[in-house]
Amino acid sequence: MESHKLQEQVELIREVFEYIHRFQGKTLVIKIDGSIMEQPSLPLLVKDLVLLYRQGIRIVLVPGATQRIDEILTRYGIKWDRVEGVRISSPEAIPFIKMAAFDVSNRLMTQLAANGVDGVIGNWVKARSLGVRKGVDYQHTGAVEKIDSDIVRKLLAEALIPIFPNIGWNAAGTPYNINSNELAAALSSSLAAEKLFFISDHRGVIGGQYVLPEGILLSEEGLVTHLSVAEAQKLLEGNPAGDPMLDLVRLACRACQEGVSRVHIVNGEIEGVVLKEIFSSVGCGTMVYANEHENVRPMQRADIPEALRLMRPFIEKEALVERREEDLAARLGDFVVYEVDGLIHACGALHPSTEQRAEVAAVAVDETYAGFGVGRRIVSFLIERARALGLRQLYVLTTQTADWFVQFGFREGGVGDLPEERRRQYNRQRNSRVLLLDLEAVS
Ligand SMILES: CC(C)(COP(=O)(O)OP(=O)(O)OC[C@H]1O[C@@H](n2cnc3c(N)ncnc32)[C@H](O)[C@@H]1OP(=O)(O)O)[C@@H](O)C(=O)NCCC(=O)NCCS
Repeated sequence: MESHKLQEQVELIREVFEYIHRFQGKTLVIKIDGSIMEQPSLPLLVKDLVLLYRQGIRIVLVPGATQRIDEILTRYGIKWDRVEGVRISSPEAIPFIKMAAFDVSNRLMTQLAANGVDGVIGNWVKARSLGVRKGVDYQHTGAVEKIDSDIVRKLLAEALIPIFPNIGWNAAGTPYNINSNELAAALSSSLAAEKLFFISDHRGVIGGQYVLPEGILLSEEGLVTHLSVAEAQKLLEGNPAGDPMLDLVRLACRACQEGVSRVHIVNGEIEGVVLKEIFSSVGCGTMVYANEHENVRPMQRADIPEALRLMRPFIEKEALVERREEDLAARLGDFVVYEVDGLIHACGALHPSTEQRAEVAAVAVDETYAGFGVGRRIVSFLIERARALGLRQLYVLTTQTADWFVQFGFREGGVGDLPEERRRQYNRQRNSRVLLLDLEAVS
């Protein structure tokens, strides 16, 4: 082999190892649309997913069943209606819908078995009826109520690949037909997935078909290759609702706002599409991505009661010092909050001190949102703010969270390292550990 080709291959191998390292232990939720389930490209697609799985990447599969449900209902002579794109699932139809949903799941199971991997199908989704909307009774069509993510995490830890049929059950065991795109999006946020893939026979958002927000660039093929959540929201606002591609964009926005880093809308007929999206910076579909700090904003006066509520359980556990309303009001400009859809899930503060130093303090994440990377976003925002202010060192005083701060580059320090004023206020009884972050040293 010519030496420059060999060199290229070595570069490529290095890059792939780098990517694998980055995604090891992370979860990818893969929705495979019904339009792809019948395609000759399916076995190769599953093979690629198995390759990722073998590198320690966790895979969750959600097969789409629309086409299969249509087929089975037609075969058994059962009529159905759709209202605004949503199927009304009658009591007569639901057993057949279940049959179709499990049938497509079994197909994926068979593909996994062909690659020597264990898949598992289960009933880990609680659903509720869509009910009656605008006078239309949707009967057995439902929406995701809750996902038993603890069980799913255990399965993933056991190196199994969970497969989710688009059926959920209420507490009484009544089955509901749920939208598999909605299911995949809900799964990705409840599992704090790194990525969510919508794989169908569509390439992604085609520029010419929509009114695009300003500044969106198209690929040579006219495809919108990437959208931040803010851009995606503008796209949704500027175009009529009800378009299936825009529905995916809407779900992508929601998933990103709930902690998923990237959502990829790709065409499963393209060979190696998932690998191309993961292992190259170019990609070949439309990617919606979360800006790490998109949901972080300065705290306002009206947020104070909510921030105090967030801190309360940690104050009781002595992880945080007591703060009153007037304490926050006095230093309001130091505080930031993490907000999604008008609800505050976390807060934190950067208190400037002397000698170009500042204290990271009052970091608190709503316990129901723990483990979704919200705390990381708050602290990385504060670090960025400190850099923008030209500060040289940050410190944090913590009783129970020292190990968590290590990920940002904080190192052990001592009370003697604190600015004098802070040293004087140091509560010896509380005996907090002091951690330091030298901003010049960390890129
Ligand atoms: C610590 C805290 C900010 C983390 O928030 P979060 O949004 O859950 O954090 P992230 O999602 O970014 O990170 C979660 C990871 O950190 C780990 N983690 C959480 N608390 C930790 C702690 N006290 N020590 C070490 N690791 C911890 C979790 O196990 C999880 O690990 P995983 O990704 O391997 O599953 C949150 O638990 C909190 O509010 N704690 C109480 C207040 C506090 O101590 N603040 C710091 C002093 S200012």
